[in-house]
Formats: sequence, C-alpha cells, structure tokens
Amino acid sequence: MLCLALWLLPAAGLAASLPDPQMLLPEAVELSADRPAERFRTPYHIIKDCMTVSSEDGRYFHKAGGDEAAVCGVYLLTDPDRTVEVRFDRLDVPCAQGGLVSFVDGWEMNRQFFPSPSDHPKPLALRYHEFCGGDDRKLKKQVFESSQNAALVQYRIPARGKGFSFSVRFPKNSTPCNILLEGAADVYTLRNYGKRANCSLTSLYPAAVKVLSLDVGLANPERGLEVETGTLHKCRKRGLPDYVELGGSEGLDTSRLVVADSVCGLDSKPGSTLETILCEVTTVRLVSSGQFDNSVTVSLRQAGEEDVSEAALVCGY
Ligand SMILES: *[C@@H]1O[C@H](CO)[C@@H](O)[C@H](O)[C@H]1NC(C)=O
Repeated sequence: MLCLALWLLPAAGLAASLPDPQMLLPEAVELSADRPAERFRTPYHIIKDCMTVSSEDGRYFHKAGGDEAAVCGVYLLTDPDRTVEVRFDRLDVPCAQGGLVSFVDGWEMNRQFFPSPSDHPKPLALRYHEFCGGDDRKLKKQVFESSQNAALVQYRIPARGKGFSFSVRFPKNSTPCNILLEGAADVYTLRNYGKRANCSLTSLYPAAVKVLSLDVGLANPERGLEVETGTLHKCRKRGLPDYVELGGSEGLDTSRLVVADSVCGLDSKPGSTLETILCEVTTVRLVSSGQFDNSVTVSLRQAGEEDVSEAALVCGY
C-alpha cells in the first residue's frame, strides 16, 4: 500500500498542474508496462517487521535494511475454507552468507508446527521448500500451495539491500481438515470425508468450546440407520477408534495437547459438551480411523480470567 501511495502522489500533483489528462498517458503506460491491468489492482505490502502476520493477498516485498542475521517470517492466514498459494517473483538472496527464503506448508513457532506432524498429510521434510540465489526461471514458474489455511514464508537476508518478493492468493479448499484460527469466535465443522486422517481446529487464544453437534464413530453403516447414542465421554480411554479431543497446549504443536475430554457418539442436541480451556492454544482434534464418516460442529468463544472457575483445563500454573 505504501509503495503504491508513494508513486501515485507525484502523479496526482502533476495532474493538478496539467489539466489535460492525455499528457499523463505516456508516463502512466511506461510505469505499468510489465502488467498493464494488474498493476493498479494488486495490493502491495512492504515487509518491515521480523514477524508479520497477514491475511491479505497481493504482492509482498522485502529488502534488508542492514545485515539481518535473524530468521524472520511472514505468517499467512486465511479463511478456514481456503488455502494459501505463494509464487516467488524476485529473488536476490546471497547463498554464501547463509541467506535463504523458504515456503513452509503450515506455521512454525519455537520449533513447533501447525498442523502438528502427526496431523499433516505430508512428512515434515516435504513441507519445507528452501532456496537462495538470484532470479531463477524454474522457481518463478513454481506455485507453492499449503494444505490448510495457514502458511509461512521464512527468510534470512544477511546482506543490506538484498531481498525478495512474492505474490499471495487464497484459493478455495473444498475439503478443509486442519484449521488455524487467529481472531473471531465462530462456529466450525470438522470432517474426515470418510478418510483415515486426523483433523484439528486450533485457536491461538484460550477458549470456551461448545459441541453443537456430534457424529463420530459408533454408527454402523450397514444398518443404514443411525441411532442417537448421545455424547459418550472418555472415548479414547474406552479404546474406541474414532473420537474428538478437546484440549489445550502452550505451543502450536497439537501432539503436545493436554486433553480435557474425548467425546464420540451421535448427538444432535446442541451444547451437550462445554469445555473451557485456559491455555495459550486451544484445540479440537478429530481422530478418524477411516471406518466412519465423522463430523463435529463446535462454537468457540474467547475465554479469560473470569472463566477460571469453570475451566476444565488451565495450562501453565
Ligand atoms: C491419528 O492420531 C492417532 C492418535 O493420536 C494416531 O494413532 C494415528 O496414527 C493418527 N492417524 C494418522 C492418519 O495420522
């Protein structure tokens, strides 16, 4: 935005002193020569902070102001039913001094990953794409797409004036499994689409989680009729293959989840289960063996100190 505003300003000044708009044309055409139509539509973002969280599409630019030794990141997050797509447009990152840029399928903070390696469809090593050097035709053609609504561009630019740029889009995802939430409290549904997979809904805040409807495990598809069992608790301990874990953790990795309850069954009565989880990170995790077509709908509300007497789980005390 800043970049766009800066180069529009002198043009606006010029327009005021030159009433004939035709006079501006040659310069305007030259400025937009590489992508005539897009140039005016694409939002621009200048990356300044070492840690940037953004939900905006468009082009991102970074140029090192000094010798930046630290590893920094642009944490991209979009709607639960979208993925993050990144293309690198420019690369001027010296390999020799340890410079690098990487696309990460998920978020990484303090060596913890979202989605947790135990919930992501790909092994961790395949979720990292690292590179350095100059503009490369092969790299420019590559499109990196995350498996969920969160992705990360990490970088270390050890030389002043060096940098990179990339473009971000958020394509639709018809089968969302892992979902990261940063802000708004709302209603979400987790499904396994009949597959053997673990899906999680993770919020970066303490939350009161209410189960609005539950259809997980138990049902015998051969009978063709599902029997309302109500909500069963401690399903994991009972040895049932499919269940929903409600819990919290101090970091992003849900494999370190402290579980307040695990539920399963068929229950369409909303509010059967309510758990207040006072941890930095709250997670609802659907574990599916592949034998059932599971779904669970929950509402999340941000919780605070005032909820401590109700809390099923309090982390870090
Ligand atoms: C899902 O999680 C369970 C328990 O945490 C684990 O045993 C199982 O292997 C996981 N399934 C997949 C597909 O990763």
